[in-house]
Amino acid sequence: MPYTKEITLPEGYTFRRLEKSDYNNNYRETLQVLTTVGEISESKFNDLFENWNALPNIFHPHVITNEQGKVVATGMLFVEKKLIHECASLGHIEDISVAKSEQGKKLGYSMIVGLTKVAQQQECYKVVLDCSPHNVGFYEKCGYGNGGNNMYIKF
Ligand code: ACO
Repeated sequence: MPYTKEITLPEGYTFRRLEKSDYNNNYRETLQVLTTVGEISESKFNDLFENWNALPNIFHPHVITNEQGKVVATGMLFVEKKLIHECASLGHIEDISVAKSEQGKKLGYSMIVGLTKVAQQQECYKVVLDCSPHNVGFYEKCGYGNGGNNMYIKF
């Protein structure tokens, strides 16, 4: 099915891939809106960044920056290479977070649209994500359907 939605960012805002320098550019602080980030040293961040960058077709960490170049939204597309459907690729969207002061400006929407377009460029046959019931309406506005239950086990 064609995905016709478009990124709609305010003037001066940018959707782009995560950069190493974002360690000191409000990336961790923005993610804290979603959940606990904890103490992450710069070297730990750099190791993870190199890990993601070594597999550029798998990991697609993205941010939206404001007119000052500061990170104000985060999101990750992870592309799983599967055996089924003739070795098809399945996209997973994770870690969507918009800075509190920037919510309501369509940044979350633009992040989802942007990541979905990356998934299409990566020839994913489907993109999936888990969310709380209170965010279902948001994802529906981004063009996603409600696929049912989310099961998990925590360690
Ligand atoms: N329920 C229903 N509709 C919503 C919700 C919601 N929770 N949040 C936003 N919307 C609507 C908006 O009203 C808007 O509608 P409109 O087009 O008719 O005007 C549309 O969805 C787009 O909203 P945005 O302005 O893009 O929303 P925002 O930038 O505030 O981002 C988000 C939404 C990501 C949920 C943000 O509020 C946030 O970061 N919340 C805290 C962290 C979080 O819950 N992240 C998602 C976790 S799930 C995951 O990571 C896969």
